[in-house]
Amino acid sequence: MNRMEVVPIEKRSPLLSLAGNSHIDILDESRNAPLCGGNKMRKLSAILHGEICKGLLTMGSTYSNHCLATACCGALLGLPVRLLIVETVPCKPSRFPNLNLAHRLGAELVFIPPPEARKRIDEERECYKDYFWIPGGGHTRKGLEVYRSWFRRIIDDHPNLKKKDWVVLPFGTGTTALGILQAIVDLNLEIQVIGISVARTKEACEESIKELGVPVEERRLKIVDCFAGQYGKRESHHHSLQCSYFRRSGVFPDPIYNIRVVEFLENESIENGVVINTGGMLNTLLP
Ligand SMILES: Cc1ncc(COP(=O)(O)O)c(C=O)c1O
Repeated sequence: MNRMEVVPIEKRSPLLSLAGNSHIDILDESRNAPLCGGNKMRKLSAILHGEICKGLLTMGSTYSNHCLATACCGALLGLPVRLLIVETVPCKPSRFPNLNLAHRLGAELVFIPPPEARKRIDEERECYKDYFWIPGGGHTRKGLEVYRSWFRRIIDDHPNLKKKDWVVLPFGTGTTALGILQAIVDLNLEIQVIGISVARTKEACEESIKELGVPVEERRLKIVDCFAGQYGKRESHHHSLQCSYFRRSGVFPDPIYNIRVVEFLENESIENGVVINTGGMLNTLLP
């Protein structure tokens, strides 16, 4: 497992500040691992640690950074990877940078129409019993724990962050946000986690939180669901937002996940917080 160990983010200065706003810091997770760094690689480094299996099996969307990260881990570990891509219309993998690279890394792509997803996934899990099944998005307790210890370490190294009022990040399955939240609770800090849902309603996000069985105090986690139902929707103003954010921070936000955080920050005048850039860089090449 050594070859795929996530490079400690501390190797490079993790804190960037948003120019024009000296009270907002950015933790850039996009460079924590080779090729496709981001929160999915950090989660997988923990999920796969110590597992012995004949291959890897998982699922995701055409934009899935988790599927790409799984392909990347499989290639590094010398394991076959089978990716179940849930997609309505037959799609050309070459149009999706993550699928394209996953395929080049040797992963097998299996397209499944959404109405059949549950049944087909069960069949695949039965058929590939000796492959290690990774829940979509790496939404597992180990994924949560790795973000819990990561954020505790960040706070240890940067004690000034204890005085921040909030941490904001994209919210998909919620593992990353919950791990960070647990660290905040462990350290008894008064920092609110703001999760910007990229797809689901607040209620659906809460269901996903329940799957991990960790109690969450309402005041500590704010889920913003103004982008619910708009997963992957690209808008004309996104490109100029990406460019101006890059000029101000040195981070070019991906167009599916982190752009939603940038949009949120544009519309809210909040200060004294931390932004987590969670990766997903390859989707910046989407046509
Ligand atoms: C780049 C990126 N950021 C954030 C997320 C959301 O992370 P989580 O599923 O832990 O909420 C995802 C995946 O869903 C992602 O690919």
